[in-house]
Amino acid sequence: MRLFIDTANIDHIKEVYSLGIISGVTTNPSLYSKEGGDFKSSIAEIASIVDGPISAEAVSLTRDGIVQEGRELAAIAPNIVIKIPMMEEGLAATKILNSEGIKVNMTLIFSANQALLAAQVGAAYVSPFIGRLDDIGHDGVEILDSIVSIYDIYGINTEIISASIRHPLHVIQSALAGADIATVPYSILKAMVKHPLTDTGIKKFLEDWKTLQETASSMK
Ligand code: G3P
Repeated sequence: MRLFIDTANIDHIKEVYSLGIISGVTTNPSLYSKEGGDFKSSIAEIASIVDGPISAEAVSLTRDGIVQEGRELAAIAPNIVIKIPMMEEGLAATKILNSEGIKVNMTLIFSANQALLAAQVGAAYVSPFIGRLDDIGHDGVEILDSIVSIYDIYGINTEIISASIRHPLHVIQSALAGADIATVPYSILKAMVKHPLTDTGIKKFLEDWKTLQETASSMK
């Protein structure tokens, strides 16, 4: 399973990309509103930093509006993917953009049926929001599991991006369910690195190494 970062924060993107742990970025209007600034120039900057798919969301509610926005966003850089919400107009727009070779990430997916529909119109990616399902007392991972099974049975090429990740366990559950990608907030990527036993292990190795050096130099 590949990892993307779910943010529009340029510093965070640069930091985790330089670690080599992420291969794409997902954004949405809420993430943009946290950062401010000009949306298109920010997307262009992100697309120039990360050599991988960058999802930029269309906000129109009509088929033609979404298609126009999609074409404009896709013209910014070759690695831009158009994020389109699951709705009838979004499905129709995805079909058109797909026929033009523009990749779409269908977002706000909360059921296996929605994921099945996205695949019919040629979405390159679907984004089931597992955390938001958990928030309302459903089992987000179970829905993800169903999508993975259905896509496997029918050899569907649409890639599954596990989204709305709330904690490190969601990342493990997404990997076990067979998601192609998990898009993970910055703080959770950082938390994934850490383990208290790793920290105490490093400390102990360094202490023992120091003791060895001191013993060696006292024997000279
Ligand atoms: O990419 C968007 C998705 O991950 C939303 O996450 O935390 O707003 O439910 P959240």
